[in-house]
Amino acid sequence: MLLKNSVLKVLEENKGKTISGAYIANTLNLSRTSIWKAINALRNEGYVINAVTNKGYSLATDTDIISKEGIALYLNKELSDIEIYSHKTITSTNELAKNLALTGAKHGTTIISEEQTSGKGRLGRSFYSPANTGIYMSMILRPNLTAMDSVLITTSSCVAICNAIYKVTNVQSQIKWINDIFIDNKKVGGILTEASTNFESGTIDYLILGIGINFDIPKNNFPKELQEIAGSIFKGNSNGVTRNMLCAEIINNILTMIPKIKSYDFITEYKKRSITLNKNIQYTSAGISLNGKAIDINNDGSLIVEHDDGSIKILNSGEVTIRGIN
Ligand code: BTN
Repeated sequence: MLLKNSVLKVLEENKGKTISGAYIANTLNLSRTSIWKAINALRNEGYVINAVTNKGYSLATDTDIISKEGIALYLNKELSDIEIYSHKTITSTNELAKNLALTGAKHGTTIISEEQTSGKGRLGRSFYSPANTGIYMSMILRPNLTAMDSVLITTSSCVAICNAIYKVTNVQSQIKWINDIFIDNKKVGGILTEASTNFESGTIDYLILGIGINFDIPKNNFPKELQEIAGSIFKGNSNGVTRNMLCAEIINNILTMIPKIKSYDFITEYKKRSITLNKNIQYTSAGISLNGKAIDINNDGSLIVEHDDGSIKILNSGEVTIRGIN
């Protein structure tokens, strides 16, 4: 680990407390001068580290910079050895994750960035990924599942994310079928899964689970065209809740849920949080726009739609519009 990162780890572990240069130097077996240099390097990266005369250094509690060290602090003990790569700026975390998966990165490896310059959404759209206010992360997963089951990763991850948001921020969120996270009828997050399958066995070789969340973006900071449809968990004040905390809890929930995915237990919570169920919706089939009512969600995540004439359609993928909500 780089010297600077070792110092960051000690500061994150003691966030808000003043710790002496001597304590850091002893803990890391380094000279006071090296500690001082590392502190300055971290300050140059934007960390607010206060120096208190004769007492030492203190990492300000409202410092919210994503780092491997900051996330590791909140991971479940049994997940302490997962690989985390954190970046300042990147084209798309899904793209880097794909490259790492191809070179053998293990299950749970997580790539995260403060900013994406070409964030990707579903259906070929782009995902707005401004610096410092959102969460853009991709997890490399190697679940023991068939390609048909990959949708379960998407649906269970929605539940994992909503539960994580509630635990860390106390804010309740909803799910719009199939993989959008909503708060107050505005989209605050989405998931983009990209799987590579072994054609002979039909099993998933690797799956990239890309998660984007608007963490602390006031309405006026969104581009005009998003202001009425996009939302954010916080709107300019996250009350000391950090993105590191939320990232860690999302990782904890997802990696704990995957081995139990075939019990389908998460579907109950998925339905409870659904803003699509029992609503009049619109969807497109073979280029034709159709109306119906979403009457249920199957264990496999498919949406059951009933039309006015009583006929039923099962939707496995795609997107629906909820009438009354953008
Ligand atoms: C959607 O809402 O259409 C899906 C959005 C997924 C965005 C995330 S951000 C991290 C990862 N990297 C990307 O380029 N996309 C996903």
